[in-house]
Amino acid sequence: MKNIIILAIESSCDDTSAAVIKNGQILSNCVANQAIHKAYGGVVPEVASRAHQQHILPVVHQALEQAQIKLSDLSAIAFTRGPGLLGSLLVGVSFAKALALSLAIPMIEVNHIQAHVLAHFIDAPQPQFPFLCLTVSGGHTQIARVDSHLEFKILGTTIDDAAGEAFDKTGKLIGLDYPAGPIIDKLAQQGEAKFKFTKPNIEGLNFSFSGLKTNILRFLQKNVRQDKDFIQHNLNDICASVQSRIVSILLDKLQKASQQTGILEIAIAGGVSANSTLRKQVQLLGKKHNWNIYIPKLEYCTDNAAMIAMTAHYKYQKEMFVGQDISPLARYVI
Ligand code: KG4
Ligand code: ZN
Repeated sequence: MKNIIILAIESSCDDTSAAVIKNGQILSNCVANQAIHKAYGGVVPEVASRAHQQHILPVVHQALEQAQIKLSDLSAIAFTRGPGLLGSLLVGVSFAKALALSLAIPMIEVNHIQAHVLAHFIDAPQPQFPFLCLTVSGGHTQIARVDSHLEFKILGTTIDDAAGEAFDKTGKLIGLDYPAGPIIDKLAQQGEAKFKFTKPNIEGLNFSFSGLKTNILRFLQKNVRQDKDFIQHNLNDICASVQSRIVSILLDKLQKASQQTGILEIAIAGGVSANSTLRKQVQLLGKKHNWNIYIPKLEYCTDNAAMIAMTAHYKYQKEMFVGQDISPLARYVI
């Protein structure tokens, strides 16, 4: 049988990543991070796009080398089509187009959020269909019912900020570097969730984090007026309190989704699923409700091309290819 070998590129935000998959097995997954955004307190699109241009060739070379695969072995090239920053996506799409054209191989477009969910199929144990997946990243917060590798129904989504944004924006308010999620996670381990922040009252399975953000801002302003060193003196407790509230908002909706659908196969995905409290709490909730819980390895939570490669593997089997006229500028719906 002919081997199916796919090179995948991920460049939707600030990480440039390349991975190689052979017959459904990940052979390499290389990521170049862009530390440069720390200085700005968030991702600067123009800077991200330029950094992708610098990183893409070395990262692709590294991924091919680690996998011991030659360009001539490739069956297809996959890339993140969206959602993401336009200038960042364009680097990956253009690279994929040029390579596909020169090698005369097909191209596969991949939806970044779908890929976060399919990261669960990289390693065992794998969830059984249908399962619920809470996907929480810097740009997205959603609960989907996953009916097959390529069929999803979104049951709930954020109406304003994403969960990762809630972490990152809080971090900015208390003077932490970007991305603040992992730093808050670490500091919270030394703190106590003694400050009670607001819980949004949103119908159904949708999420909202903008009220929480305002609540945190007002809380800090009030306390800093009384003690100018309030943040420094209470940093760990503030982190623990904010994290506890974000995790409880996420898990309340996940619990509701399981109750509504009767589905007990439960997965979490995306950058925020690296959060240690979320990982712990979802396990505890799972024990209470008899859930089978699926949590990706840390390297497959944050942005990576292995998840793009995994999704492309399923699309290759259905010959879901795209032509050279593909552009991230066009409206994109899956
Ligand atoms: O999936 P991802 O790498 O990129 C997007 O698709 O957005 O997610 C990045 C987000 C950032 O907001 C970052 O602060 C958050 O994931 N994050 C975390 C942790 N690790 C990454 N948030 C909380 N705790 C963590 N350990
Ligand atoms: Zn992501």
